Amino acid sequence: MLNFDFYNPTQILFGQGRIADLNKVIPAEAHVLMLYGGGSIKQNGVYDEVITALGTRKITEFTGIEPNPSYETLMKAVELIKQNKIDFLLAVGGGSVIDGTKFIAAAALFEGDDPWVIMEKRGNNVTKAMPFGSVLTLPATGSEMNNGGVVTRKSIKAKMAFSSRHCFPQFSVLDPTKTYTLPARQIGNGAVDAFVHIMEQYLTYPVNSPVQDRFAEGLLLTLIEEGPKALINPEDYDVRANLMWCATMALNGLISTGVPQDWATHMIGHELTALHNIDHAQTLAIVLPSMLRVRKEGKRAKLLQFAERVWDLHEGDEDSRIETAISRMQDYFEQMGVKTRLSDYQLGSDDIAPILSALETHRMVSLGEKRDVTLEVSRQVLELSL
Ligand code: NZQ
Ligand code: ZN
Repeated sequence: MLNFDFYNPTQILFGQGRIADLNKVIPAEAHVLMLYGGGSIKQNGVYDEVITALGTRKITEFTGIEPNPSYETLMKAVELIKQNKIDFLLAVGGGSVIDGTKFIAAAALFEGDDPWVIMEKRGNNVTKAMPFGSVLTLPATGSEMNNGGVVTRKSIKAKMAFSSRHCFPQFSVLDPTKTYTLPARQIGNGAVDAFVHIMEQYLTYPVNSPVQDRFAEGLLLTLIEEGPKALINPEDYDVRANLMWCATMALNGLISTGVPQDWATHMIGHELTALHNIDHAQTLAIVLPSMLRVRKEGKRAKLLQFAERVWDLHEGDEDSRIETAISRMQDYFEQMGVKTRLSDYQLGSDDIAPILSALETHRMVSLGEKRDVTLEVSRQVLELSL
């Protein structure tokens, strides 16, 4: 096992009815900026419950944080904070709203001229951030219990990730009943995103880390077993609760302790979203199967472990077990309603060169756990995904 430093200060308030407990975790005198997306929270009762829980606190609202939150929109919230005496930020929504709030929390206190530098330096230059918490409505990203965020600058078509130890939510409320209204597309996206998060931390090379491996395999099996049930019966509380906690555990730092990490699939996926506005999880479903096929040799030992322990494959030679495991995973993505080929999204071979040149512009030229995913490897992955 590799050395590691595990730190996660986020308090989780889990279960039905927990939005009411916002009253206990937000300072009584706080002027709260409530941030949300396009309005789903007004249709499913989340908005009303939050307002009730905040009681007599002064509330200002910032609405319109879009999926794949844009720097352009988020900077409007930073201005609002500077003009009003806001003490506390409350993100109410999915990963986009929470990520956007993390950026706003850091940008509002940033001392440089242009907070976009936070993204360029991937968060290394963040020295403080405003306090914030979240109410999660879409299990997928793990943003509710990690310190990372992804922001898009539309004007230059750049989608970039940052992280900072100052950007953990103080708390997150996870009420599984608030996910009942998710459209099927977002249920599928959530399960696939969480699945790929686990794979990026698990499917590398062995370092003798059975605790992390068994955790990861348990989370993968949970997604495989529970995901389809959520599509069939959207109001099954236990299914929603298990999926919600699974997505959080997939990216809260626990399973990445002491192990190598990949993330090449995510980096290519971000370019696909920036250039073609494809949903985050859809990009991952396109890239990961090919990524594993192209890099089979470097990942052979873990692919065999994945085949045996997650897909119960024990027969046949090594290569056929590996291929069957990858195909089963791809079938699972499709079963969750997430298409896995570039052509499913009307993209073809002519679209590959611009993706590679965006990767180059963003210095994504040596990705993966061994830094051996060059632009040439990325090209092979994309060609195999056509
Ligand atoms: O905007 P509203 O009206 O709220 O609608 C949203 C949005 O249209 C809707 N929605 C959310 N909860 C709902 C609901 N609709 C009905 N009922 C509910 N309960 O779902 C749509 C998608 O929301 P979004 O927040 O964009 O989705 P997601 O949670 O998948 O977040 C995606 C973003 O997170 C980033 C992605 O790159 C992308 O920008 N990621 C963040 C990570 C992190 N912070 O660690 C890691 C991930 O790898 C990922 O990159
Ligand atoms: Zn992701």
